[in-house]
Amino acid sequence: MLAPDSLPNPLGLLAELTHRCPLGCPYCSNPLALDKRSDELDTATWARVFHEAAGLGVLQVHLSGGEPAARRDLAAIVKAAREAGLYSNLITSAVGLTSQTLNTLADAGLDHVQISIQDSEEKSADHIAGYDGASTRKRALAAEVVKLGLPLTVNMVVHRANIARVEAMVELALSLGASRIEIAHVQYYGWALKNRAALMPTREQVEQAVAQVETLRKKHHGQIVIDAVVPDYYARFPKPCVGGWGRRSLNVTPAGKVLPCHAAEVIPELEFWNVREHSLGDIWRSSPAFNAFRGTDWMQEPCKSCALKEKDFGGCRCQAFLIAGDARAADPVCHLSPHHAMVEQLAAVREDIPYNYRHI
Ligand code: FES
Repeated sequence: MLAPDSLPNPLGLLAELTHRCPLGCPYCSNPLALDKRSDELDTATWARVFHEAAGLGVLQVHLSGGEPAARRDLAAIVKAAREAGLYSNLITSAVGLTSQTLNTLADAGLDHVQISIQDSEEKSADHIAGYDGASTRKRALAAEVVKLGLPLTVNMVVHRANIARVEAMVELALSLGASRIEIAHVQYYGWALKNRAALMPTREQVEQAVAQVETLRKKHHGQIVIDAVVPDYYARFPKPCVGGWGRRSLNVTPAGKVLPCHAAEVIPELEFWNVREHSLGDIWRSSPAFNAFRGTDWMQEPCKSCALKEKDFGGCRCQAFLIAGDARAADPVCHLSPHHAMVEQLAAVREDIPYNYRHI
């Protein structure tokens, strides 16, 4: 818990508009228990949440899902974000989003589009997404985004089936006119845990991909920004997950629960507040879930006496719970964690088995 005068302002809001999605990605980051369509927040509540977020200091709203285009009121939601003064980023699969709808969204004030592309090879991309023809539709929509003059980010989730094609993905993003590519290795929470053995790359593959990203950054400097989320399981130190718990961002679920990170519901002891009953400011300042791991008082050894505790904040709380069984433990990916050997054992389990697709 931090003293009220040292509480930072959040910068980003992830608005999970719906859990509905046409794709079946084996690494889906949505929770295992999905919110029903009938429980989704309405347009007016989202508009209020955006105004409250702007009042808290939030600058950007990421309109996410599921597939946000499954919402018929998406243009009204984009307009509400613009009226609240937020920079809006649409995170889309591009499946189910027509060029006509995209035009309407641009007119409503949309600022940026991020399209997930599963692989540079179309057949493999469709296989990973569990949706025939997805890749063609994604490329076509990317062209429309660029034609409208909207900045485009391509998101590539990396795992064993596509890790050899990081360079080809950057080339594809360039050819589509993207100004940024996000290369994010699978994080093993939620549905991805069910497919961990089928998705896990080898250490050699990961080291090669990380080195390749550095080379590509130099090669394409000034042409495209390459952001990379490093793979946890082969790291020596943990990542400062979500920039530190309750420090930089909020996630609002389709039904209005506010989470400090997208996976926080895996930690059973946490109590989340809902925007239907509380203002976003109250939730940020006072909700039990946001205060659970703020600051450093909650830490155990080796984090408690670690020189990096204000830099990595002990790593990821969700991963600590999922692997060590204790959300207050050091993230087991840290080589100083007493549970680190478990991460090495889990990374060594790789099986060429069919994906367990997520059909929603
Ligand atoms: Fe929840 Fe890392 S995903 S803290």
